[in-house]
Amino acid sequence: MAKRRIVLLPGDGIGPEIMASARAVLERLGEFEFEEHLVGGASIDRYGTPLTDQTLAACKRADAVLLAAVGGPKWDTTDPQAPRPEQGLLRLRRELGLFANLRPVRPLPALLDASPLKREVVEGCDLLVVRELTGGIYFGERGREGERAYDTCVYTVGEIERIARVAFRSARRRVTSIDKANVLETSRLWREVVERVGRQEFPHLELEHMLVDNAAMQLVANPRQFDVILAENMFGDILSDEAAMLTGSLGMLPSASLGEPGKPGLFEPVHGSAPDIAGQGIANPLAMLGSVVLMLRHGLAMADQAARLQSAIERALEEGLRTRDLGGSATTEEATRAVLAHL
Ligand code: NAD
Ligand code: IPM
Ligand code: MN
Repeated sequence: MAKRRIVLLPGDGIGPEIMASARAVLERLGEFEFEEHLVGGASIDRYGTPLTDQTLAACKRADAVLLAAVGGPKWDTTDPQAPRPEQGLLRLRRELGLFANLRPVRPLPALLDASPLKREVVEGCDLLVVRELTGGIYFGERGREGERAYDTCVYTVGEIERIARVAFRSARRRVTSIDKANVLETSRLWREVVERVGRQEFPHLELEHMLVDNAAMQLVANPRQFDVILAENMFGDILSDEAAMLTGSLGMLPSASLGEPGKPGLFEPVHGSAPDIAGQGIANPLAMLGSVVLMLRHGLAMADQAARLQSAIERALEEGLRTRDLGGSATTEEATRAVLAHL
C-alpha cells in the first residue's frame, strides 16, 4: 500500500511540543509521509494570514491532517481587522467540510483518582460528545457598529439532520440532544429535526432532549447517564471542556473532525495552546496521542496500530506516568518515552 500522507500542523504555544511527541510515535508505528506546515499565529507571523492557500491545498490532498493547537496572547487583539490564529482553524474546518466533531470521554482506570470529581462519580463513565462543527454562531453573520456588536446563530434543517445521523449511528443506547429550546429559535428547530430523525430512522435508540444549563450540571452530578451527547457548535465546545475533567485533565481529551467519506479528516486535541505552560516542556501529550489514535482508526483505516497505541498509553499510565496536570512531574518528553516503551 502507498505510504499514507499526513499533514502536520503544530501551530502555537505547546503545539510544537506535543506535535513532536505525535511524530515520534507515528515514526515508531509505521511508514508515513509527513508534510509540515505553519498554521495559526505562527502562520500570521510568517505570512500575515493564519492559513495560507498552500497549506489549505496540502490539507485537501492529504490522507489525514493532524493539528496540535493555535492561538495565544501575542495575537489577541481588539482590532477587528487584524488576523487571528483561530480564524485559520475555523477556515480549515469549513473548507474541509468537517461538520462532525467527535470527542470521546472515557476516564481510564489508572486515572480515576486524578479527576477532581469523586471516583464513584466517574467510574464506568463512557460518553461521546458529537459536536456540530461548521455551523451556528461560529459562522453566522457578525459585525460591529459603533456601540453595538452582534453574532448570529443560524442552523438549517440539512445541517441538523446530518449531524443528528452521526450521533445516532455512534450511539449504543441513548442520544441526549442538547439545546436551549426554551429561549432560542435555532434550538427549537434543532429539537424538532433531531426528534424526527430519531423517530423515523433510529426508533430502537432512546432519545432525550436536555437544556444546556441542566446538561452542564448533570455532567458533573451523574455523567454515567450519558451515552452520546449531541450538541450544536458552541454548546458542544463548552460542554466538552467540562467533560474533559471526568478524565482527570483537559490534557487527556482527543478529538476527530470528520466530513464526507473519502475526504481527509482533521485530528486534534480538545485543548488549546496552553500559553501559561508553553515553552516549559511540561505539557501533557496524551490528548495529542489520543488524537493520533483517532486518526489511525477513523482517518487511515489502521485499526491495529490504533489499538496498539491506545494500549501503550494505558499501560504507561498504569505504570504511574503522570504529567503535572495529572498531579505528577513527568515532562512531555518523559511521557512520550513512557508510551514509546510500550509500542
Ligand atoms: P487551553 O486549553 O489552551 O488551556 C486551558 C488550561 O488547560 C490551561 O491552564 C492549560 O495550561 C491547561 N492545558 C491545556 N492543555 C494542556 C496539556 N496538554 N497539558 C497540560 N495542561 C494543559 O485554553 P485557553 O487558555 O483558554 O486558550 C489558550 C489559547 O488556545 C487561546 O488562544 C485559544 O483560542 C486557543 N485554543 C485553541 C484550540 C485549538 O487549537 N483547537 C482549542 C482551544 C483553545
Ligand atoms: C476547540 C477550540 C476552538 C473552538 C477555537 C480555538 C476556535 O476551542 O477546538 O474546542 O471553539 O472550536
Ligand atoms: Mn474549545
